Amino acid sequence: MQCSWKSMVLLALASIAIQYTAIRTFSTKPFSLLCSVGLTPTGHAVNCSLRDLTRLGQETLEASDQGCDELLPQSPSSPSVSFPSYNANKRTHILILATTRSGSSFVGQLFNQHPEVFYLFEPLYHVQLALLPRLAQSRNLAERRVILGAARDLLRSLYHCHLSSLESYIRPRPANHSTDKLFRRGASRSLCSPPVCEAQLGREGQSLVLSDEGECMRRCGPINVSLAADACRAKRHAAIKTVRIPQISDLRALIEDPRLNLKVVQLVRDPRGILASRIETFRDTYRLWRLWRATGRRPHNLDLGQINTVCEDFLRSVSTGLARPAWLRGRYILLRYEDLARFPLQKTRELYRFLGLVLDHSVEDWIINNTRGSSDLSSRQKFTTVRDSAANAENWRVKLSFDMVVYTQTVCQPLLELLGYKTVYHPRELRNLSHSLVEDRTFLPFF
Ligand SMILES: *[C@@H]1O[C@H](CO)[C@@H](O)[C@H](O)[C@H]1NC(C)=O
Ligand SMILES: *[C@@H]1O[C@H](CO)[C@@H](O)[C@H](O)[C@H]1NC(C)=O
Ligand SMILES: *[C@@H]1O[C@H](CO)[C@@H](O)[C@H](O)[C@H]1NC(C)=O
Ligand SMILES: *[C@@H]1O[C@H](CO)[C@@H](O)[C@H](O)[C@H]1NC(C)=O
Ligand SMILES: *[C@@H]1O[C@H](CO)[C@@H](O)[C@H](O)[C@H]1NC(C)=O
Repeated sequence: MQCSWKSMVLLALASIAIQYTAIRTFSTKPFSLLCSVGLTPTGHAVNCSLRDLTRLGQETLEASDQGCDELLPQSPSSPSVSFPSYNANKRTHILILATTRSGSSFVGQLFNQHPEVFYLFEPLYHVQLALLPRLAQSRNLAERRVILGAARDLLRSLYHCHLSSLESYIRPRPANHSTDKLFRRGASRSLCSPPVCEAQLGREGQSLVLSDEGECMRRCGPINVSLAADACRAKRHAAIKTVRIPQISDLRALIEDPRLNLKVVQLVRDPRGILASRIETFRDTYRLWRLWRATGRRPHNLDLGQINTVCEDFLRSVSTGLARPAWLRGRYILLRYEDLARFPLQKTRELYRFLGLVLDHSVEDWIINNTRGSSDLSSRQKFTTVRDSAANAENWRVKLSFDMVVYTQTVCQPLLELLGYKTVYHPRELRNLSHSLVEDRTFLPFF
């Protein structure tokens, strides 16, 4: 069958409208497996016996958790309405809701650098790894929903500093609450500083904080999960970054839990920028896109699902967020990565004001050291990738071919409009970097 460019796009658009969930299932790729977890088409309760599939998840449940209730449709009970609280003593839990290559490591650092915040980088990685090999063959949306339920249970446990819940997902299973397999442990300052890591002492005998991720992994040895849990409890607040929750509505049960005091920072980025960055990073998964760029011809078997999923998840989440349902009051803020890259200090202050947290000078120092705000090139080696990503939020414009840009725009048009990313109609417009493609928009937090 011969497929013209236009018919492929039409087909894609029709499919989005009619068979959205099906597309998400088919688009499943190792890197975005949990990102593809969908709602049941009817939104109805999953048969709780499916929980047998996630015995692992069961083990992490706490007595206080609702178990199967979480899988039931949302109860119409009134959500916890909370106005911004500037009482920094109230424990606040922060979730950075993001997708891969949207700048989430950078946003994570805005909390990781705060001395009163316990930060975890992608703990749900372990859920994905432990549960998906068994369910990977399955296209059953109900089963996927169960995985999402396990992810939510784990998040709740982690915010309550029950870090041992994570152990059931780590392979090999930690013995004596000790493991060297915690994913990206080095990305968390708390896990690389005393008392969790006592490895390093400075010249005067005082402890140093290892700011280099690899060095932390090398020098700290296996992590003692009990000590890590103590460290979590010792901090006033906790923040978790994840790219493994598709949409804000997937978090509703946690957001409505008054004991949790959860606030969500949704990070979005121009999908054209995400695409360019993923093509560089996930070379196997995005192989056909690289082929397209190299040859100038779109491979007929190009996987549309990858970019569709990003745009659909963003569109649904952002639409939900901007519609300001009562359950999100005081709990949701939308952050465009491009705004953060252009005005890092200002945007970080806005973020902290919304969260009701006091911004620590160490966060500001870190920003100054790691963005274009810094003229000190000697501090560059440590966080080159972070620095580059902040400086180059729009460099996709020289990395994607014009055809690829047009194609992505077509698929993601409603999202681009919603978020204020300008469509380009001519290669000259695309490459002229003095003409910004990011409209000035203010997304006020919902208090
Ligand atoms: C759903 O639950 C009922 C009663 O617990 C059980 O008989 C049935 O087999 C379950 N169905 C599935 C698909 O698990
Ligand atoms: C766990 O601790 C016990 C008692 O301290 C010890 O006998 C055992 O060898 C430890 N297991 C591992 C795998 O380190
Ligand atoms: C981990 O730390 C606890 C103290 O919180 C200690 O009792 C335990 O022995 C430590 N475990 C290992 C394996 O070092
Ligand atoms: C910022 O850079 C200076 C100079 O390199 C360094 O002394 C300081 O520790 C850095 N601060 C942070 C928070 O990275
Ligand atoms: C690039 O964009 C700027 C600002 O819109 C415009 O003034 C300039 O003429 C453009 N340059 C070219 C070569 O198109």
